[in-house]
Amino acid sequence: MSASAQVTALTPSDIRARKGGTPLVALTAYTTPMAQMMDDHVDIVLVGDSVGMVLHGLPDTLGVTMEMMCLHGAAVRRGLRKPLLVIDMPFGSYEESPQQAFRNAARLMRETGADAVKLEGGVSMADTIAFLTARSIPVMAHVGLTPQAINTLGGYKVQGRGKDRDRVLADAHAVARAGAFAVVLEKLPVGLSNEITEALSIPTIGIGASATCDGQVLVVDDMLGLFTAFKPKFVKRFATLGADGEEAIRAYAAEVRARRFPAPEHVFADEGPTA
Ligand code: KIV
Repeated sequence: MSASAQVTALTPSDIRARKGGTPLVALTAYTTPMAQMMDDHVDIVLVGDSVGMVLHGLPDTLGVTMEMMCLHGAAVRRGLRKPLLVIDMPFGSYEESPQQAFRNAARLMRETGADAVKLEGGVSMADTIAFLTARSIPVMAHVGLTPQAINTLGGYKVQGRGKDRDRVLADAHAVARAGAFAVVLEKLPVGLSNEITEALSIPTIGIGASATCDGQVLVVDDMLGLFTAFKPKFVKRFATLGADGEEAIRAYAAEVRARRFPAPEHVFADEGPTA
């Protein structure tokens, strides 16, 4: 038996059982090396449709396709052993009917090896979540700011304030009742996030929500400082890899132009070692 076969991977039930326990750690990933980097440190890896903005330069997540998700999902799977792997259902792949959602969720899981899917929406998606979970597809829900709905929400605004509070509460309760094993709460006021976390029997995973959520998620390129086009208030940069990378590229360009790179240790003699 290989060393990798002995690792016990987390399941949706394990994640659900962590309600109220040690906070769950979640990050997005889109590539094998990034997945390998987080394998020992996080509980949940999400192949988010944020991949469209972060890696493909799209203005929002609406242009993300099933093909993009399959490609990045399979790459992430190859770099992970332990965390639960969740994959986003892209805009247009699940909203039409529970049957459409099942077809596309099954394809995402089959082609990537993901353990679960995530989809955006509350009350309006409850039937779909129930349909999927009854057919062996674990679902992570996502309420509050749902980026695939920016055109109807009017942008990336905080949700659930004032009269909107009841709508978000109803969404959170609906996805939990429908059978989601966890729910992402995005860009909600702290008080509402706390109330939802206390009321639901499933873990809440916050992004711009509250420190008392059952877990937190961030886009990995945001927290590493790799994505610098803009920085939402809820992002903390734990590194500055974008700036460090640009500095490294500047140094490389200068050395090539000055003929300082390659140096003698980077080139091959006429005779000797071949590698
Ligand atoms: O697409 C994504 O990365 C997400 C997370 C930010 C929750 O949905």
